[in-house]
Amino acid sequence: MHAANLAARREVATVLGAGAGSELPLAELAGRFDRLVLVDLDGPSMLRSLRQIPRHLRSRVDLKIVDVTSFASGLIESTARAVESSSSAAESFQRLGRILDGLQAREPPDLPPSDLVVSSLLLSEIPRYPFSFAAQAVDDRFGVAIQTWERSDDFYRRLVEVAVDDHVQLMVDLVRPEGVIYFSDTVARGLAQHSDDGAVRRAVEARAAPHFIQLGLADSASDVAPAVNRLCRAQHSPRTEAAAFERLLSLYRDADDRFFEPLLPVSALRDRSTQRGLVLKESPTSWWWLAYPCRIRSGSGAFLVSNWILGLRD
Ligand SMILES: C[S@@+](CC[C@H](N)C(=O)[O-])C[C@H]1O[C@@H](n2cnc3c(N)ncnc32)[C@H](O)[C@@H]1O
Repeated sequence: MHAANLAARREVATVLGAGAGSELPLAELAGRFDRLVLVDLDGPSMLRSLRQIPRHLRSRVDLKIVDVTSFASGLIESTARAVESSSSAAESFQRLGRILDGLQAREPPDLPPSDLVVSSLLLSEIPRYPFSFAAQAVDDRFGVAIQTWERSDDFYRRLVEVAVDDHVQLMVDLVRPEGVIYFSDTVARGLAQHSDDGAVRRAVEARAAPHFIQLGLADSASDVAPAVNRLCRAQHSPRTEAAAFERLLSLYRDADDRFFEPLLPVSALRDRSTQRGLVLKESPTSWWWLAYPCRIRSGSGAFLVSNWILGLRD
């Protein structure tokens, strides 16, 4: 709601990729703006969003079941045609390659100019839909995994590139001159497995000592490694464990970012936003979403979420 308070006017708020809205203050937004536009491809999820909003405010809400990109629906249609009209997986991949070479942003969806534009946990999801669709289509028809195609990584990378470009352009087109964009997404996940002889782990745990002692998880620096092993054994409160994991994750990130797999090309996103005339209204903030905390030491269990508040350059 902090971003909403920065908008100069309170006429229209648009939530892109609203889905079920479980992470969004939809009731407050509907109370604050004259019109709240919720946009997603997934109609049933948006009905769940609508149920979060008190009945007396629902007349202010518009549900729009549309693709927020200018390219994903068209790409899915052409992928379906390419796979259906091929007689082998190799031929499908050849056709997909040609589609990929011609892939570009097209006409954006028709949405109202907005005082607040919200894009939350959406951009990193956009490339997944067309990619999973292509993978499923080839697998269903020929029983062949898309990963056997030598351009499959290329395909995904290009989808990410086009999605970033397209999404920045959409936000620029929608936001009113004195309006505000709240953009939030998962930018990385960890811990990714990468070869480490334990030196980083030991250094991280040594640096975590003061925090662990303060949380009452260890009595001295030499206790930290056993204390880390005791996490997730229901011996401490969830709040204490979350604080310990957050500290460990931040220390791993500072020590060696190969422990984190990037999910969004943050520097490309920043460059595109600047090129298209967006400016930061406040410094970005980040927090850890501990999806599977008990897996963090052995595999990916945490997501780094970053939030930006942006507006148009004067
Ligand atoms: C992880 S959910 C986030 C939901 C919500 N924004 C939040 O913060 O709780 C991602 C949403 O993006 C939607 N989505 C993904 N690609 C889309 C597209 N091309 N057009 C519209 N919605 C899309 C999905 O249907 C899903 O509801």
